[in-house]
Amino acid sequence: MHNSNALPDLSGRRVVVPGGTGAVGEGVVRSYLAAGADVVVPTRTQERAEEFRRVLGDAATDHLHLVVHDYTTFAGAEQLAEEMERRLGGVDDVVAPIGGWWAGKRLWEIDESDWQNAFVGLAAAHVAVLRAFLPRLDARGAYTLIVGASAFTPVPGSGLVSMEQAALLMMRQVVEAEVAGRQRVFALVLGPVRTRLADSGDPDWVSAEQVGAVAVAASASAAVDGLEIRLRSRAEADEALAVLQGDRPARTGEVVAASTMEPGNGRREDLLEVLAELAPQIRAEPGCLHYSVHRPHGGGDGPLLVIQRFASIEAFTEHSASVADQIPRIAALLATPPMPPTLFEPVL
Ligand SMILES: NC(=O)c1ccc[n+]([C@@H]2O[C@H](COP(=O)([O-])OP(=O)(O)OC[C@H]3O[C@@H](n4cnc5c(N)ncnc54)[C@H](OP(=O)(O)O)[C@@H]3O)[C@@H](O)[C@H]2O)c1
Repeated sequence: MHNSNALPDLSGRRVVVPGGTGAVGEGVVRSYLAAGADVVVPTRTQERAEEFRRVLGDAATDHLHLVVHDYTTFAGAEQLAEEMERRLGGVDDVVAPIGGWWAGKRLWEIDESDWQNAFVGLAAAHVAVLRAFLPRLDARGAYTLIVGASAFTPVPGSGLVSMEQAALLMMRQVVEAEVAGRQRVFALVLGPVRTRLADSGDPDWVSAEQVGAVAVAASASAAVDGLEIRLRSRAEADEALAVLQGDRPARTGEVVAASTMEPGNGRREDLLEVLAELAPQIRAEPGCLHYSVHRPHGGGDGPLLVIQRFASIEAFTEHSASVADQIPRIAALLATPPMPPTLFEPVL
């Protein structure tokens, strides 16, 4: 396991953490303070400021700058950025764990205030902070968004969260293309997190401090370009730290695996059933981006085509190992012995 306690020294670095008072934000703030950075935490209410100072206890050193300020509007975020420049002389990094969970209605049941609160308000707060701070970051500074894996996994009854977080992931991609390497834009995509508000005790969940350690490592890793980093388990957090600390190369690019399967006589439906049964397990694999099964256009008989897309060749290798015990089951339903999939990588 990677040593997530070994935080790099970020003394003198000025970091702003809007949303820092929240459950995940606490771990981020603690980690940057432990790394020696000056940490600005804006919060919209005095009560929240006082509560957060109590939560931090002794960790609230002189390097914590807790300010009551509404950073969620364009004007408010701009004022905060100007104030930070005036008081601290600039800003080096931003981490934005803004917003929390929303649940309880299917999309056709939402009303306008749900839409404004769970989508428009949160998305606007992120854009406000981004447009105020990103242009002010020093070259190679890190801008780190924090979102949940619901950005790419639909959660019935929480659709507004999925939609808003998916929009933020696209925002990261657009901004990364627009800054063209001047700053580094990261997104940490979280699974369930152990926080002061929800601690399952499950050692496989990442803790808020581990999320903070990865954000700190992103700030410190000037040589690593912006990335979308998945932190859905301790193992993924350890891997992210290893990559950001330069101990392991970043995983290579995406891979498409295409397999053609000719069903045995009368076994087409059985084969489709097995492939459908495997779909949830394969789609839930950490590196799996896509899994679909196709028949010849127009229907009827003929081979089935299985198309899978993986985040990297390593993710494909892990997938192959995890489905190896299913191969005999599938082979028994094929007209010809199964062949390894053909692998493709992007050209354009
Ligand atoms: N907690 C988890 O297990 C978990 C899991 C997966 C993903 N995430 C993601 O991590 C991020 C932070 O989640 P969290 O659990 O830390 O949330 P949280 O405890 O609710 O904290 C979010 C913070 O965002 C700020 N905020 C600004 N505008 C807001 C608005 N319109 N509504 C609500 N909060 C607003 C609040 O700070 P002030 O009131 O002080 O301004 C609040 O403290 C979110 O993107 C979430 O999806 C969390």
